[in-house]
Amino acid sequence: MALRVPHPNLRSLVLLSLLAVASAKVFFEERFDDGWESRWVKSDWKRDESLAGEWNYTSGQWNGDANDKGIQTSEDYRFYAISAEYPEFSNKDKTLVFQFSVKHEQKLDCGGGYMKLLSGDVDQKKFGGDTPYSIMFGPDICGYSTKKVHAILTYNDTNHLIKKDVPCETDQLTHVYTFILRPDATYSILIDNVEKQTGSLYKDWDILPPKKIKDPEAKKPEDWDDNEYIPDPEDKKPEGYDDIPKEIVDPEAKKPEDWDDEEDGEWTAPTIPNPEYKGPWTPKKIKNDNYKGKWKAPLIDNPDFKDDPDLYVFPKLKYVGIELWQVKSGTLFDNVLITDDPEYAKQLAEETWGKQKDAEKAAFEEAEKKREQEETKDDPVDSDAEDEEDADDSDSDSKTEAGEDGEAKEEDAHDEL
Ligand SMILES: *[C@@H]1O[C@H](CO)[C@@H](O)[C@H](O)[C@H]1NC(C)=O
Ligand SMILES: *[C@@H]1O[C@H](CO)[C@@H](O)[C@H](O)[C@H]1NC(C)=O
Repeated sequence: MALRVPHPNLRSLVLLSLLAVASAKVFFEERFDDGWESRWVKSDWKRDESLAGEWNYTSGQWNGDANDKGIQTSEDYRFYAISAEYPEFSNKDKTLVFQFSVKHEQKLDCGGGYMKLLSGDVDQKKFGGDTPYSIMFGPDICGYSTKKVHAILTYNDTNHLIKKDVPCETDQLTHVYTFILRPDATYSILIDNVEKQTGSLYKDWDILPPKKIKDPEAKKPEDWDDNEYIPDPEDKKPEGYDDIPKEIVDPEAKKPEDWDDEEDGEWTAPTIPNPEYKGPWTPKKIKNDNYKGKWKAPLIDNPDFKDDPDLYVFPKLKYVGIELWQVKSGTLFDNVLITDDPEYAKQLAEETWGKQKDAEKAAFEEAEKKREQEETKDDPVDSDAEDEEDADDSDSDSKTEAGEDGEAKEEDAHDEL
């Protein structure tokens, strides 16, 4: 299997790491160097409705290496669909690693950043939202409620979502997402080479019915004591407890001066709640020595469970694709990798994202600083005041004056309101 490692300043590093992981099998690797367009097919999906978004081949507004480009969504309110083919393979008896980097430069508030692996034969020109896929993986953000990493596995034509919550990154920097699926039906999800979730395909997806279920025949034994606390048999009601009245005559109340017994009837003082009254007596509670814990039905083998030792197998993986709807564009994908070697994937992430992340962060902070300065420069309050001034006094249009007199002008504006 030939590896594509055309990036000149990475070549030596990659060769070094190849020695370390010489056994790695790489099914697909795309760093988006020159010529990427011959490997990827842009779908015509949504094109006749003019809703197919264009990709921008760029390293983005901030980056750690301006020559390291990826593909970025560039139009708002658009559908995006693009895919690449690789020689068909099965991950049976192999670890499957699916990895890519994604950067949301647009401060994404609603949109996906995930990718898909597709199987069998796909008409890439028609690839779209309805095209069946085998695996969908990656971040998805929408509002405050959805900020998660999707990991959807398709089994017998049904999509199964992961049941565990895996939060995704929400900043405007590059992050590497890695999905590892192993022949022992375990998986791991990594972000920036750090494991965020791991477990079993049997437990963390409802692909197959559960192996064990609660015995529906089992009943709680008659003598099962599941009271954690019982009334203290030693505790006795204090003498005279029941004689304490609930209400007492208000000691502060006085018969009004102008009360006329003839007219108003006999005066009785109002009552108030008695602070001494504590309600009906109950003995205090103590721990029950016979407490056996909450009763649980024993687990039995689920008669509906039929194991599939090939639960993790996707026998005809052949395409990788991006299929998204974006309200706000600016999501940049890079370094797409499909391999059988987690160590190779880890090194690729280190050599790309790892090497560039500090410079990218610095560039981002610089860009943010510039943006904030621009914003203060054309602050809407100041420009309103300037308009006001222009209307009142047409011969003063010097910039310094606008700055110095800003406050006074604002006051003028308020007075007029
Ligand atoms: C592509 O990205 C670059 C860098 O962010 C930007 O300057 C350029 O305007 C973008 N082009 C399009 C067509 O969006
Ligand atoms: C999956 O499909 C196969 C073949 O159609 C079938 O034998 C099997 O019972 C299905 N498994 C589940 C869990 O639906």
